[in-house]
Amino acid sequence: MRKMAAVCLLAMAIGLAHAEPAMDARLQEVDPILRRLEPTRGQYLNVPREHGRFLRMLVEMTGRKRALEIGTSNGYSAIWIGLGLEKTSGKLETVEIVPETSAMAKANLAEAKLDRTVTCTVGDALEVLPRLEGTFDFVFIDALKEDYWRYYELVRPKLRPGAVIAAHNALSAREAMSKYFELLDADPNLQTTIVQIEPGDGFAVSFVREKPQSP
Ligand SMILES: C[S@@+](CC[C@H](N)C(=O)[O-])C[C@H]1O[C@@H](n2cnc3c(N)ncnc32)[C@H](O)[C@@H]1O
Repeated sequence: MRKMAAVCLLAMAIGLAHAEPAMDARLQEVDPILRRLEPTRGQYLNVPREHGRFLRMLVEMTGRKRALEIGTSNGYSAIWIGLGLEKTSGKLETVEIVPETSAMAKANLAEAKLDRTVTCTVGDALEVLPRLEGTFDFVFIDALKEDYWRYYELVRPKLRPGAVIAAHNALSAREAMSKYFELLDADPNLQTTIVQIEPGDGFAVSFVREKPQSP
């Protein structure tokens, strides 16, 4: 009996650990699209659902408004970021090198009624980023891990004080991202922490200090 109770408690604990937090009305509306995209996550290299939820929350809790995503794929993470930006009245520009996947993203975002919030740009981020006008206060990096440092170098001059950079796969692709981490460490005006969303993976979240540090 005691053994069974222990098993039940364990099952409850596991159940709780994986319980889906309550969904607000907007997420309920968009959820069928997210659920439809989730089974092909491996093919389109989308962030896991919990990571998407984190991105939405990060945008909303920091109140960031001008966002950039590097690596759109079919728009799964852009939907989550877009939901956060709806709350902050912000906009997202997302860049994807493969025209077909960018077109899928465009359709998915339109279906989620996020086409006014998110702009999809087709092209190599290494060529597109220097041409982007203005500044950003939120950047999600999720394209080629070995190139994170290159994207960062191109985008760093466009970051406002208070900007947030979330770089995906900071634990699973640590080696490939080593030069990116070196650049973060070398910048006295950045604070970075690793946010683990699940065992073995998560984000490197960096914050551009509001007031530059003296060297
Ligand atoms: C990990 S997937 C992005 C997944 C997406 N963020 C999501 O969670 O739904 C990486 C994407 O980056 C794109 N990519 C790779 N190199 C790129 C580059 N130089 N410029 C723009 N996109 C690139 C790939 O085609 C791929 O679709």
